Order: sequence, then C-alpha cells, then structure tokens
Amino acid sequence: MTDQNPISPRPRVLSGMRPTGRLHLGNYMGALHNWVHLQNQRDETGQLKYECYFFIADYHALTTDYADTSGLKDNIREVALDFLAAGLDPALSTIFIQSHVPAHFELHTLLSMITPVTWLERVPTYKDQQEQLKEKDLATYGFLGYPLLQSADILAYQPAFVPVGQDQAAHVEITREIARRFNHLYSTRHTPAFENAVSDKEKLAVAELTEADPSTAILPEPKVLLTPSPKLPGTDGRKMSKSYNNTILLSDPEPEVRAKLKSMVTDPARIRRTDPGNPDICPVFDIHKVFSTDQTRFNVREGCTTAGIGCIQCKGWLADAVVEQLAPIQERRRHFEANPAEVDAILEAGNTRANTRANQTMQEVRSAMGLR
Ligand code: TRP
Ligand code: SF4
Repeated sequence: MTDQNPISPRPRVLSGMRPTGRLHLGNYMGALHNWVHLQNQRDETGQLKYECYFFIADYHALTTDYADTSGLKDNIREVALDFLAAGLDPALSTIFIQSHVPAHFELHTLLSMITPVTWLERVPTYKDQQEQLKEKDLATYGFLGYPLLQSADILAYQPAFVPVGQDQAAHVEITREIARRFNHLYSTRHTPAFENAVSDKEKLAVAELTEADPSTAILPEPKVLLTPSPKLPGTDGRKMSKSYNNTILLSDPEPEVRAKLKSMVTDPARIRRTDPGNPDICPVFDIHKVFSTDQTRFNVREGCTTAGIGCIQCKGWLADAVVEQLAPIQERRRHFEANPAEVDAILEAGNTRANTRANQTMQEVRSAMGLR
C-alpha cells in the first residue's frame, strides 16, 4: 500500500459505480478503463500523480431497486471482481464499498439540512428516470435525495477531481453548489458581501453567486473530469445497456463474444454479400473504432465499401480485437475468482482506508457545524 507523500499531497480523485452485476464493454469504456488510466498516471519524477478512491455505490442501487434486493450481494461481488479484473490495483487505489463507510450517510444527513428541495427536483435525471422506470415507484425520499447522496460520496473525500461520463456531470455540478453553500455558511472567513448581508436569506443569495474563500473552504469544490465516451452500441445497434439485453460482458468467454458479435446488426442496406456497405452507419464499425487498429479499420472500410469482404469476416476481425483486449482482464478475473479471501482482504483494507480519510473530513464538518 502506498502512503500519501507528506511533502506534496497528491490531488485526490474519486468516483463510484452502481453494482449492476457483471460489467459490460460500455461500463468499461465509459468509466473503468479511464479509472485505471488515472490510477497509473505518474509525474516526471515517477511519483504517482493522484490519490485514487473508487467505490461500489450500493446505496445508490437501493435508490431505484429497493423493492427487490435479492441480487444486491452478488452484484456487489461481481463488480468488485470486474474492478480488479480491469486493472484497478489495491496497491495504487483505495477500492471500497459505500455502505461500509458510515461517513457517506452522516454527511448526506448534514448536507440535507442546507439543500433546497428545488435543487434536487431540478436535476435532469430526476424526472427522466421517474418517466423511464415507470414500473418502479420512485416517488420516494431516497430517490429525490440521490444526487445529494452522490454529493456526500464525493465531498467526504475532499477530492480535486471526479471522473464521470457526461450523464453524471449534472451531479458533480450540484455537488459544487452544495459545497459552496456549505463553505459560506460554516467556514471561518467570509467575503465582505456575505458579512454585510442583513438576513440569512440574503446571505444564502450571496453564497449562491460566489465561490467561498478557497483558503478556508472545508469542502473544496471538486472539478468534473469528463470521461471521453466513444459511441459503443450493443448487439442490436442501440446504446449498450443492461436493460436492453444487448451487452458484451467483460467476463464473456471467447465463443460467447464471437457469437454475440456475429449476430450484431449491420448497415441495413447491405443485404447481399455483393452489396457494398457503409461503415459510417454500421454499429459494428463503431466498435471497430474503439477496439481495432488503424490498419484493421482501413481494411474494413476498403473491403466493406467495395463489397470485397463480407460482414461475417468483418465481425471476425472485430472479435479478434475484442478478445485480445479482454484476455488479460479475464486472466485477472480468474485469479480473483479462485481467491475469494484475497478479494475480501482487498475490500476490507480499502474500506478501512476510506473510513480513515472520510472521518478526517467529518471531523472538520462536525466541528464547523457546531456539533463538537
Ligand atoms: N450515480 C453514479 C452512476 O449512476 C454512481 C455514483 C455514485 C458516483 N456516487 C458517485 C459517481 C460519486 C461519481 C462520484 O453512475
Ligand atoms: Fe458493417 Fe463490417 Fe458489414 Fe461493413 S462489412 S456493413 S462495416 S459489418
């Protein structure tokens, strides 16, 4: 385990993922791959660049799936295995489970005192998800509050950066607003405008407009690190997603990967082998863009547009590229599947380190709010 360099503390990076079960290529390209990259970043002197925290957001799973929690335990396990398989390294990153760190819900409660309900109602995913997941009753307090839970997840670690996809950017933005409000209210030093405000209401209005003095801010406003997300369609051509049943899993064995890709939809105008196709409207080619070499992509374009190759061959090349990238991931997964006690120990050590770090923040927060 690496300790933080006491002379120049590394900026912290934090992100989390819901335990949805075994992860697919979309989860990998949209998040995990980037986390591993950040974890491995070093500066010119060879020092690690970031202090990384990555967690399994099991409370977040409950915000939508509270009615049936029978799969939760297994899903957490599968995601932990996929984290380690993908290359998150407990020697470089703190890997932990949200519900094992009580600071998350303590901070959630404290922040709930200062968070206007309208801020939560305005989060774009709130109404969207309620619409999309009509079969679930999401008119709950927990679901309304889940962006705030995410803010607590983040702020408990006082991170500099939060790597997320575009779909999560609004959650980091509300986190910044909540941090700002907190800092104005509870930091020791105030801006003159805040000082001169005559009522609490006026103070809050000032607090919304300006960043609090960063030198005394207890909860520094974290920055979003947008993960570049290449288009990754599933086998039916729609966005790869567990709910569409069109995924390729990180843990799918080679024959499964090949079979799934073989059945994938293509340029619909290319009906016969002799018809030329158009890679630019073909979902198979979108995956080539992510996994294949320039040379292979060139060959596909050439062969497809001249009807020189068939779709079966094209998909075979793609399967080769995907299988090659998955091989080291699956080898690591086999190792951890065979050594469950090692996984337990990694998570336990991660939980302990996460608790230590988050408790440091909580002491500052409690004391600032007059609780100690
Ligand atoms: N809400 C995120 C998602 O659905 C997961 C998440 C929970 C998260 N807490 C977080 C991401 C904190 C980043 C930081 O993907
Ligand atoms: Fe798509 Fe490849 Fe078939 Fe062209 S050859 S239509 S890129 S699957």
